[in-house]
Amino acid sequence: MSARTSDVLVVGGGIIGLVTAWRAAQRGLVTAVVDPEPGGGAARVAAGMLAAVTELHHGEQTLLGLNVESARRYPQFAAELSDLTGHDLGYRRSGTLAVALDADDRAHLRELHALQRQSGLTSEWLSGRECRRLEPMLAPGVRGGLRVDGDHQIDPRRLAAALVTACERAGVTFHRRWAERLSVVSVGGGRADGIVTDDGTALKAGQVVLAGGSLSGRLAGVPRELLPPVRPVKGQVLRLTVPPRYAPFLSRTVRAVVRGSDVYLVPRENGELVVGATSEELGWDTTVTAGGVYELLRDAHELLPGISELPLTETRAGLRPASPDNAPLLGPSGLDGLLLATGHHRNGVLLTPVTGDVLAHVLTTGELPDLARPFTPRRFGAAALSEQPA
Ligand code: GLY
Repeated sequence: MSARTSDVLVVGGGIIGLVTAWRAAQRGLVTAVVDPEPGGGAARVAAGMLAAVTELHHGEQTLLGLNVESARRYPQFAAELSDLTGHDLGYRRSGTLAVALDADDRAHLRELHALQRQSGLTSEWLSGRECRRLEPMLAPGVRGGLRVDGDHQIDPRRLAAALVTACERAGVTFHRRWAERLSVVSVGGGRADGIVTDDGTALKAGQVVLAGGSLSGRLAGVPRELLPPVRPVKGQVLRLTVPPRYAPFLSRTVRAVVRGSDVYLVPRENGELVVGATSEELGWDTTVTAGGVYELLRDAHELLPGISELPLTETRAGLRPASPDNAPLLGPSGLDGLLLATGHHRNGVLLTPVTGDVLAHVLTTGELPDLARPFTPRRFGAAALSEQPA
């Protein structure tokens, strides 16, 4: 079939692919996205917490810098996208309360508080009574908590829909097919020059961005040693509805670690209450299981016994695209013409603004901006791995 040409071809129409395409088109690049269902992917499942502070983990300080920078860009990003498209993104700056239900949880939360302070982040320790004063539906057994007013939320489904509209307005072309194979021409050390879709159409492009979420490591035609080391991490998520007579059930996101697992409840202004999430290494399985739903409800019920009154309106499972160090892979892949924007793991929604900016910069200048240098895909390349101490 005949070839169609663009400056940039983005493989994957999830929020990361869409923001990349939108920002590239805004910079004057002729841009196309290939995805059977743009606006789908993990954003259909994600709760949308912008949790740079409450999801801080030991050993992830480098990632923290990128997370904090993206959180800083969010207000302007959301305002621009919303003004341009007329979409309400459900962006809510109502903050987060991380609570402890027993002495072990409290010790864990105290450690997180210390790490946050060492990292220059703002959070406030509250007694159990102070937590319940903020959120009266909390269980009486809550032993203390961390108030983080800077961790906000957005509705990822609305974000994805707005990004599709923004792309359309910026002139991005959508090819609603699967990308089957990267096309590589053998000049010099080889160069990516497009993809072939599952109906055999050849789409040619000056640069290809692989933004396929957890599928990014599977695109045929990418040289084996350059395939991004991304694996799927399953998350099951529930949606409840708060009837008007119970509103406001929660005024901010509430989360805890219960029996070693994260549970969070994210209240939207429209009455949706998102409860997440399991974290399961089960390959490509996206089954919603009785055990997953049971554990989420059991843990959420310990935090907020009143949830048992609420209608359960949706259950879903999605796949986080996880990399070996939990940080994204951004920029040139090592094959000319092929760039990566994948591996965002737990932080895809949070990192959407900064990813769009970074990829647009690389696509137009060929250079990674300083803040993205630690996230070069080359850190996992064959050379980097052979430099690791045994
Ligand atoms: N960032 C929330 C999650 O991955 O479950």
